[in-house]
Amino acid sequence: MMVHRYDDLSLLLVLQIDHSRVAGLLAAHWGNSVFAEPRPYLSMVVAAQEHDCGWWNWEISPTLNAEGYPPDYHGFWMAPGTGVIEGPEDRARAWISFYRDGVDRVREQDPYAGLLVLMHGTGLLSQGHGVRPNLPDMRRDPIARRFLDNREPVRVKLLEELRQSQEYRDFASEEHLWMNFKLLEIYDQLAQFISNRYPFNRTSRKTGPKNAIGPVPLAPGRDDTTLNIDVLDEKRAVISPYPFDVDPLEVSFPARVIPNRPYAKREDFLRDFYKAERVTVTYTLHSP
Ligand SMILES: [Fe+2]
Repeated sequence: MMVHRYDDLSLLLVLQIDHSRVAGLLAAHWGNSVFAEPRPYLSMVVAAQEHDCGWWNWEISPTLNAEGYPPDYHGFWMAPGTGVIEGPEDRARAWISFYRDGVDRVREQDPYAGLLVLMHGTGLLSQGHGVRPNLPDMRRDPIARRFLDNREPVRVKLLEELRQSQEYRDFASEEHLWMNFKLLEIYDQLAQFISNRYPFNRTSRKTGPKNAIGPVPLAPGRDDTTLNIDVLDEKRAVISPYPFDVDPLEVSFPARVIPNRPYAKREDFLRDFYKAERVTVTYTLHSP
């Protein structure tokens, strides 16, 4: 859940599962004369769209932090001290369930997308397997270590299945998977940049992706590049170089408006959470 100030009296809540769908839209429109369309296209879109779908486990009925507020996604586990769920071990277990159950759901529908979502989940604990050095390195945490060790045989099994599959084997080389993993991490980071600020030009958030995002694959065999995001006003940003097939690209996501106050009881918060006014936030991305 991404928590924003909406106005003097209200907060705006954006669910991770809705942020995830923003990433899916970015993937669906990715590709033009400079950037290669992702391949396999449908699996890449599903991987992006569902990369954080496991947060459903918690977002259907969220808990409060120690101060009685709905918690922002940063600090849920990997920046301990925000008290999202009682005790750091409980927070860790909840988080782990997101990337265990989410991966399992996706792989049943699409094994290629499942492998990439698995790599995303393990990457969140290991600085994106090297491509997201700004993430905390959790590999020495015992719960994280256990999760990483448990997921490794699943990764190996999925990879073997893909390499024996007529449909996926052309896209299952180390090189191609690595390119697609980097693309998925870019879709995630750009989708975070879009959905973790409201309005678009608010600069108060210090967590999450910055205005320059990389490494961004251009096409097989080409050097990676960096995307620069220049927010123009409350609703528009210029992306350079521009990776999409339409210009501008309109991106919308749903959000909930709730009172900006601490809750003594979770049930009271949940009543407001379920009754909350729904708003649609719409931003546009433009070429330079
Ligand atoms: Fe994400």
